[in-house]
Amino acid sequence: MKTIETLGDLRGKRVLVRSDFNVPLKDGVITDDGRIRAALPTLNRLVDAGAKVVVMAHLGRPKGEVNPAYSLAPVAARLGELIDAPVTLAADVTGESAKAVVAALGEGEIALLENVRFDARETSKVDEERQALAAEFAQLGDAFVSDGFGVVHRKQASVYDIAQLVPAAAGLLVLKEIESLRRATENPERPYGVVLGGSKVSDKLGVIANLLTKADMLFIGGGMAYTFLAAKGYAVGKSLLEEDQIETVKGYIAEAADRGVDLVLPVDVVVAPEFAPDSPASVVAADAIPADQMGLDIGPESQKLFAEKIASARTVAWNGPMGVFEFEAFSAGTRAVAQALSAGDMFSVIGGGDSAAAVRLLGFDEATFSHISTGGGASLELLEGKVLPGIAVLED
Ligand code: 3PG
Repeated sequence: MKTIETLGDLRGKRVLVRSDFNVPLKDGVITDDGRIRAALPTLNRLVDAGAKVVVMAHLGRPKGEVNPAYSLAPVAARLGELIDAPVTLAADVTGESAKAVVAALGEGEIALLENVRFDARETSKVDEERQALAAEFAQLGDAFVSDGFGVVHRKQASVYDIAQLVPAAAGLLVLKEIESLRRATENPERPYGVVLGGSKVSDKLGVIANLLTKADMLFIGGGMAYTFLAAKGYAVGKSLLEEDQIETVKGYIAEAADRGVDLVLPVDVVVAPEFAPDSPASVVAADAIPADQMGLDIGPESQKLFAEKIASARTVAWNGPMGVFEFEAFSAGTRAVAQALSAGDMFSVIGGGDSAAAVRLLGFDEATFSHISTGGGASLELLEGKVLPGIAVLED
């Protein structure tokens, strides 16, 4: 992988950087600035090297239209607070404002282009359209540093096409993420456990199929667990259920048994009649979910079971919460998994925006985990064993 050093002396050079600033916002206020903080090492390195830094980033999915609700203004303000360098937000992506802001940049100063997804060409499936936008980016920079790990699975103009037009390198975050995720996926120290949660089985089919050939233990929690319980023939009441996946999941259960993979499902569940923070919660066995209740977390016996088995692993990758951790009454399962990883001395990697946010929200010390990934889809695709276009394009 090409590193920043391969770009040579950067003093006075305009360096385009792709960062992932896709942060959660509530009423225009950033609720978790983890991704902005994670971008700082590379930005500081470039600022210290005297580069004129031009940052490209997206926020949400504005579908190719300028929409103030997706402006990077809150990100520019937060970045300005976190970094010791002037930060100027351009009013457009590659238009007159972007050109003027970049032309006015001094050494060690930062320009942030407006949300690159305001331009429909950024995410276009038509190569020529993306390449045309990338050519406009190339007018604004002499080199490119790819540091938005959360988007390296996207074949997009500011991630992939630009890397083919100017000298390109991987930033410090991308290097760190790749190294940690590879350690947790290629030849992991065994026993190797993977904990999967989140709402949908259908989002994780590829991952599960791949992990059944690699992991020693596969833990299933979160909303997706109910499709597994249904595949075992249990009634799941009003819980999340993907009926069209039941047959596939039955196949996974059989394959796990064939391959000797310990497929660990919840043995009890915290249920409530409604999806609401104050809905009255109770604990039932996994095969006794009442028809008028929905499972919103793994139960205490499952928490104990998961934690004990996790503690016996040497490598654990975790993606997706075990329950509705945002509601206190349904956060214990996610907390138990985080606690087991935090207390253990195994190599632990947490991937996925939700599980990373959960760990922070539940007050865990980030330093007690080996690696917390900033990537959601990107880290999942690596777990799935896929080649990511934004990484492939940076290989030597
Ligand atoms: C993420 O939030 O996972 C990344 O920023 C990628 O966003 P996307 O799924 O909209 O491409």
